[in-house]
Amino acid sequence: MSRVVAPHIYVIFGATGDLTHRKILPALYNIVSRNGVGEKCYILGASRSDWTDEKFRDVARDSLTKKGLDLTSWNDNHVFYQSLGKKSDDFAGLKARIEALEAEFNLPGNRVFYLSIPPQVYPSTIEALGNAGLNTSPGWTRVVIEKPFGHDLESAKALNHTVHAHFSEEQVYRIDHYLGKETVQNLLVFRFANALFESQWNRDRIERVEITVAENLGIGGRAGYYDRSGALRDMVQNHIAQLFTLIAMEPPTCFEADAIRQEKIKVLQALQPIDPFEDVVFGQYTAGEVDGEAVPGYREEADVPSDSRTETYVGLRLHVNNWRWQGVPFYIRTGKRMAETLTRIAVCFNRAPVSIFRNNGSPNLNRNILLITLKPEEGFDLRFEVKSPGEPFNVKTQQFRFRYDDVFGHVPEAYETLIFDTMVGDQTLFVHAEEAEMSWKYFLPLLTQHVAVYPYAAGSWGPSKTQTLNEHWNAGGNALSKG
Ligand code: BG6
Repeated sequence: MSRVVAPHIYVIFGATGDLTHRKILPALYNIVSRNGVGEKCYILGASRSDWTDEKFRDVARDSLTKKGLDLTSWNDNHVFYQSLGKKSDDFAGLKARIEALEAEFNLPGNRVFYLSIPPQVYPSTIEALGNAGLNTSPGWTRVVIEKPFGHDLESAKALNHTVHAHFSEEQVYRIDHYLGKETVQNLLVFRFANALFESQWNRDRIERVEITVAENLGIGGRAGYYDRSGALRDMVQNHIAQLFTLIAMEPPTCFEADAIRQEKIKVLQALQPIDPFEDVVFGQYTAGEVDGEAVPGYREEADVPSDSRTETYVGLRLHVNNWRWQGVPFYIRTGKRMAETLTRIAVCFNRAPVSIFRNNGSPNLNRNILLITLKPEEGFDLRFEVKSPGEPFNVKTQQFRFRYDDVFGHVPEAYETLIFDTMVGDQTLFVHAEEAEMSWKYFLPLLTQHVAVYPYAAGSWGPSKTQTLNEHWNAGGNALSKG
């Protein structure tokens, strides 16, 4: 597949919104700063506000400067704005503007529509695009949407139905920004370019896998969204399901979207149903201390109902019923207001079957653990046992360490990677319709099964009950699984 950018118009719906200015424009700027891309990309902001090209350019320049970007590659002549009118329904006007720009700059009719708008208006916007005939063009047309892809299985299906009524799956780019993170992509290279690890990647060699996505932030000003969503919908069904399927999937036949997505779907199909009483712990944070500062509990946050049962923490034990993983538990935990911000996968290998050093003061050897860290820094560590020098004879755990920053310097942000892929038409790092539906189908029933919600103090490692899932995770807080 060619990764050369063809001339196109990049249309951003929700052009006056926060996501556009915080993430999308800075990512686009970094892309157009690359050699040869700037002259091929024309940005057209669209939204209800009655802005002019000049106003959009001014605000965009401001946002980029605030992000610390120099503006050397910014070209006002490639940036435009189209108002959709108060009711957001002037798609005929939008179409005419796109065609006029294509005529003026001699563009072949390649278009990306990025829907940086509230998910409730995805369906009406997609329909409007289709009805205006903007789902086809003389070149290619792509539509980009962000999570959440629905609120449950029914709404995910309804959304996919609307999307497919106007666009084919090959035109649709569903963003889960976790897939744009370098370490997540590198999981595939790490697993399938290093025979050393792949040959160990199974139930004979691995005792358990742990996935931690902990944030010490609370819900910020997002109570309206979060209280209806909760941690299962916000993090598990999408981001964590992606990490998990990439760790657990079989080798795809090639590094291409369909091959990879099919393997991920097979992992979801092989999941054993979750026992809502044995394999799940929900939690909600109470007042506590984070980084030395007193913080309120979830129910005291602005706009959260004082009797809310929304889970801000989820702990899970998953089992994959296939040959590779039979009997290997996958432990997952994610939460807001946890002790620290840490996103890490720990692949815990079997211990040496016997310690021949048991009579020399080292009866218990630690297991080898591969740590894949996405936050706060991206990299890998591999723990192994060494003899500490001299006497007495002692075995100690040490680790090999790799950090992206140390070796490669600038690591592109997830949005930069993903937006570039929407320009070159590579769907590998995007979520397939079926994947989104299967994940809802699997995780969502937990929300109707009256799982108990345990309190945990802000600044802790979640409810102590989590230990009943995974004895290595105690509330006292080992971020790094020890043994
Ligand atoms: C978002 C969630 O999708 O991902 C947020 O809505 C969460 O609640 C965020 O904080 C985490 O992303 P990252 O990249 O900071 O780990």
